[in-house]
Amino acid sequence: MPLTKKERALRKIASEVRRCKKCPLYKERTNAVPGEGPANARMFFVGEAPGKAEDEKGKPFVGSAGKILDEALEKAGLQRSKVFITSILRCRPPNNRNPKAGEMSACWPHLERYVDTISPRVLVALGRYGFKGLTGKTARIGEMRNKKLEYKGIPIVATYHPAAVLYNRKLIKKIVYDFRKARRLSEQSA
Ligand code: URA
Repeated sequence: MPLTKKERALRKIASEVRRCKKCPLYKERTNAVPGEGPANARMFFVGEAPGKAEDEKGKPFVGSAGKILDEALEKAGLQRSKVFITSILRCRPPNNRNPKAGEMSACWPHLERYVDTISPRVLVALGRYGFKGLTGKTARIGEMRNKKLEYKGIPIVATYHPAAVLYNRKLIKKIVYDFRKARRLSEQSA
């Protein structure tokens, strides 16, 4: 089957991400980590940055946070293969330190192109950096979960980062609740 226009656009973004040198993080990466998921995804998840496992494999959320993400998706009745997954940064910060403002702005155009290409029904901000990247705001996730937010008219559902569950197991219930809410939004007629 020939690729659709959107699929071709996603491949082009991925190859540009793999070659990107727009911020100094490229110097230390093993692999850049393009977004992953189908061109017709209705749900679009935005994490923080690749960790060690993602840097090694060149794929998003394949380490310990990825296991929690998979668990939450499954509990919310979602198939990972049907959603789009990326992060605010597509290269690993050294020792997993927090993203810097300059790195976030350098990496932003890739994310914007992904969103424009896929045109999802809902964006899910995972953790404070996913949230800050999409809204420009610094805030506590616990206070943002029930707020009405949007980017270019697309609703944003804010929830905890899956890695937070590694420190507080109870948060998985809240993430699953938020994923279900995002799922309902994605199912509403456009
Ligand atoms: N955490 C993130 O925020 N993104 C990844 O890709 C992996 C872990």
